[in-house]
Amino acid sequence: MKKGELLEFTIDYNKYPNVGVGSIDGKRIYVKNAIEGQKISARYQKSKGGRYEAKLLEVIERSPVEKDSFCEHFNECGGCMLQTFDYDGQKNLKLKMVQNLFEEAGFDVPLTEVISSPEAFEYRNKMEFSFGDAYKGGPLTLGMHKKGRHNDVVTVDHCHLADEDYRTILRGLLDYFVKIDAPKYNKHIHEGFLKHLVVRKGKTTGEIMVALSASTQVPFDGKAFVDVLKNMPLKGTLESILYVKNDGLGDVVSGEIEVLYGRDYILDSVMRLNFKINLYSFFQTNTLGANLLYETAIQMIPDLDGKVCFDLFSGTGTIGQIMAQKAKKVIGIEIVKDAVDAAKENAAMNGIDNCTFLCGDVFDVLAGVEDKPDVIVVDPPRNGIGEKTVVKVTSYNIPEIVYVSCNPKTLMEDLSIFKKQGYDVTKMVLVDMFPWTGHVEVVCRLTK
Ligand SMILES: C[S@@+](CC[C@H](N)C(=O)[O-])C[C@H]1O[C@@H](n2cnc3c(N)ncnc32)[C@H](O)[C@@H]1O
Repeated sequence: MKKGELLEFTIDYNKYPNVGVGSIDGKRIYVKNAIEGQKISARYQKSKGGRYEAKLLEVIERSPVEKDSFCEHFNECGGCMLQTFDYDGQKNLKLKMVQNLFEEAGFDVPLTEVISSPEAFEYRNKMEFSFGDAYKGGPLTLGMHKKGRHNDVVTVDHCHLADEDYRTILRGLLDYFVKIDAPKYNKHIHEGFLKHLVVRKGKTTGEIMVALSASTQVPFDGKAFVDVLKNMPLKGTLESILYVKNDGLGDVVSGEIEVLYGRDYILDSVMRLNFKINLYSFFQTNTLGANLLYETAIQMIPDLDGKVCFDLFSGTGTIGQIMAQKAKKVIGIEIVKDAVDAAKENAAMNGIDNCTFLCGDVFDVLAGVEDKPDVIVVDPPRNGIGEKTVVKVTSYNIPEIVYVSCNPKTLMEDLSIFKKQGYDVTKMVLVDMFPWTGHVEVVCRLTK
């Protein structure tokens, strides 16, 4: 095959998270965003270590099980690649994708089950939108980056992943900023104003947080911004309106927070426990799914009574506080200070007094912890745990460890280190926390 050559073939299967694999003359060709059963045209790009890669040009024939997409943003927004399946179809595809990933790497994992999300639509409790333009120099937009085009943003005011309040806020604020002619921030020349809009809504409380992330280069009328929001016909209640003074060069929400209205947190609850969630704290984005995720993880621990438990990568202390209801003592470790502060307040609010939350990198903090654990649950971010921390965690030599992962790829890398340390996967379950997207949570029990 020559670079740039046009290819037509059928996708045989998918690999996590969004790669379709087909073959021509015995060569396996990998195509991002193509789906099992589709006949596609693609442009051959390169081969890397015996892996042939091509760029999807067109779906010539849909897979026999596909139907029309349900969202008008489907062709532009890169968010929900699996929405041409029915709910069970996309769940099964995720199962096969993760199975293929592990099989190809030579792992024999006991994976046969995917737990459904309690809600297939409007399940998200947080959306992070970007300001941009529809095309270079085009009108102001607010929403998600276009599929495969990092500079263009599509306004997603009909998105089905979050509820009507998100759509009302997105459309109302976009119209407001267009009306006052506020400039978007240009990340190439580092000039301008509007960067991101974060909206959080407590699923069980209806409390809403709206945070505008913008530079300080342009004067900002915070009072007018609050008034616009307060005049919107929202079903939930506005409890927190924030201005994030974001003069950083990276395309991330960060910077000093000014509270324009209300408080700097909202409340939500999981497994009958209440949680304060501030802007920078991690909180599972599918609240009702989180009940099932944590229940699945806790069920993998044979007995918590009287045990010392480590909740590693603890966020706002969700898993730790669930364990604390039976355990003797829980130690949570988390790197984001705001999340640790929230975890301590949450525990006090929930009347839990046997949890200690420590701030810092898991590896570094464990070095100073004298307690020896009976139970360890790890729930790392997308980049996984890494070798030195896996070695540290396994050095406690406990019979079982529970691993909750939002990234099967890094989970697989970590599992090979766990294996070298004598731990095998004895149970693995997927929890569909992100319907219609290619993402999924994995919960595993590792046994010595
Ligand atoms: C997937 S979240 C899990 C949070 C929590 N278990 C939950 O379910 O809400 C991962 C957490 O790890 C934290 N984190 C990332 N790197 C870390 C590190 N090196 N040491 C400690 N915590 C870390 C992140 O800030 C984030 O809160």
